Amino acid sequence: MKNPTADPLKVGIVGAGAMGQGIVQVTLTGGMQAVIYDAKPGGGEAGRDQVFARLDRLVEKGSLEDTEAAALKQSVAIAGGLADLADCDVVVEAVFEDADLKRQIFADLEAVVSDGCVLASNTSSILIASIARECKIKARVAGMHFFNPVPLMKLVEVVQGADTSEDTITFLRALGERMGRTPVTVRDAPGCLVNLGGRAYTTEAMRLVHERVATPTQIDAIMRDCCGFRLGPLQLADLTGVDVNYPVSQIIYQGYDQDPRLKTSFPHLSLLEAGRLGRKSGLGNYRYEGGKPVDVPSPDHVTQAAPAKSVMLVEPGEKLEAFAAEIGWALLEEDDGESPLIGFPLGEDATAFAVWTGADPARLICVDLSVETHSRVTLMAAPGAGPAIIDAVAASLTTPARPVTLIKDSPGFVAQRIRGMVANLGCEMAQIGVASPGEIDLAMKLGLNYPQGPLELAEEMGLDDTLTIMETLQSITGDDRYRPSQWLRRRALLGLPIDTAD
Ligand SMILES: NC(=O)c1ccc[n+]([C@@H]2O[C@H](COP(=O)([O-])OP(=O)(O)OC[C@H]3O[C@@H](n4cnc5c(N)ncnc54)[C@H](O)[C@@H]3O)[C@@H](O)[C@H]2O)c1
Repeated sequence: MKNPTADPLKVGIVGAGAMGQGIVQVTLTGGMQAVIYDAKPGGGEAGRDQVFARLDRLVEKGSLEDTEAAALKQSVAIAGGLADLADCDVVVEAVFEDADLKRQIFADLEAVVSDGCVLASNTSSILIASIARECKIKARVAGMHFFNPVPLMKLVEVVQGADTSEDTITFLRALGERMGRTPVTVRDAPGCLVNLGGRAYTTEAMRLVHERVATPTQIDAIMRDCCGFRLGPLQLADLTGVDVNYPVSQIIYQGYDQDPRLKTSFPHLSLLEAGRLGRKSGLGNYRYEGGKPVDVPSPDHVTQAAPAKSVMLVEPGEKLEAFAAEIGWALLEEDDGESPLIGFPLGEDATAFAVWTGADPARLICVDLSVETHSRVTLMAAPGAGPAIIDAVAASLTTPARPVTLIKDSPGFVAQRIRGMVANLGCEMAQIGVASPGEIDLAMKLGLNYPQGPLELAEEMGLDDTLTIMETLQSITGDDRYRPSQWLRRRALLGLPIDTAD
């Protein structure tokens, strides 16, 4: 095995499709030689030409010198067959997602390359152990999972199969860095890290749509404005394509023995069956024209009602008192039987909160203070709550900068549910060793553009509060989808920081 940091390296790329081309480009910009093999006649040349066109565009944009581009183009060779990869130091395979095909390619490669050559697959869903099954030297087989488009996505998951050696992992991490990527080492398991970790965000949003707690526009607005996500979960589902994210959800759900935490909901299947694939088909959770969403319904609750001036706080804590002071409500000492009652439940719905506090459910308005409230406020009330009371409270909160979203009664509102699910899944990934806590956070930020990693999110929400939200959700719904990760539970109960080693 060569020293990937210092030695000149020759990288074989098998499959010159979308991913293969990206891998060729970062191989070249990383100062290494690329040898491309594609089984389709002319496929290697076509892939190379696409890479050259992208290098030319970088020259036009001024981010690459033309002399540099010319030199990079000299570092590419086209292979007529796998035998031409014989002197490669490492081969990255990016052919169709077919386990038998990949196994065959790895067996054929072993027959031609040296024993020191590292073999990596860019598979997104097949276990590395399965691809390496027929190999003679399994220790040199690993995953190198890039993200699309490769030159723009900094993350690469280096997947350690059952027999992959530490030397192979060290080699591929260094190779990834030389390609200008940020490597994370991940366990060989369904969805690796990012595809697994990303399940919570979209599937919980689908669940909320299923339960008619909120519309896609409302859910997306809450997650963007109150939680800092660049895209709402249903916008994101439309962008990746339902034909991609539905099957990925199924593979991961089945791969993890139908863990209810990873289950998606009927609206997801319904979109797929209707051919509403998202942006690519012009219709998904939203309708698109020219790639842009159109006729998007407003997520805001608009009212002309007179604002509520005096309210009573139910079970007030620091956050609710500070919020009331900011709004300028006059606070009643006792319930006058007609004014709004304001509460901030954690993990509960308005119904459960009204029952144990004794608050009149017809006048109880719950506000989610677990998240940012400067750009949007989420309100919810129990079934039967008076529309006039809801409108009066909404009017007292609404400003041009801060619209109000009114959702139906739901344990954990929208944000607590989705953030709780993301954080809990992150903790579970740490529990089962998908990667180290630090790399889980790093990968989720780089791979999915999350504002913080799932474990950082758990810390930000507070481990106690995260545990309370999950336990309450599980108890109210009776659904093991919300069962807390033991990793989270132990740290919350013991008051330990999230990254405490086991
Ligand atoms: N597209 C993505 O977003 C993405 C992201 C991460 C990983 N992946 C994985 O990367 C791999 C490739 O995906 P893609 O999107 O680039 O596919 P693609 O269909 O664009 O390209 C596959 C290429 O492999 C070639 N090929 C097929 N059989 C071959 C063989 N026997 N020998 C040599 N070449 C052969 C095809 O001619 C084609 O050019 C898959 O395993 C996929 O799961 C894809």
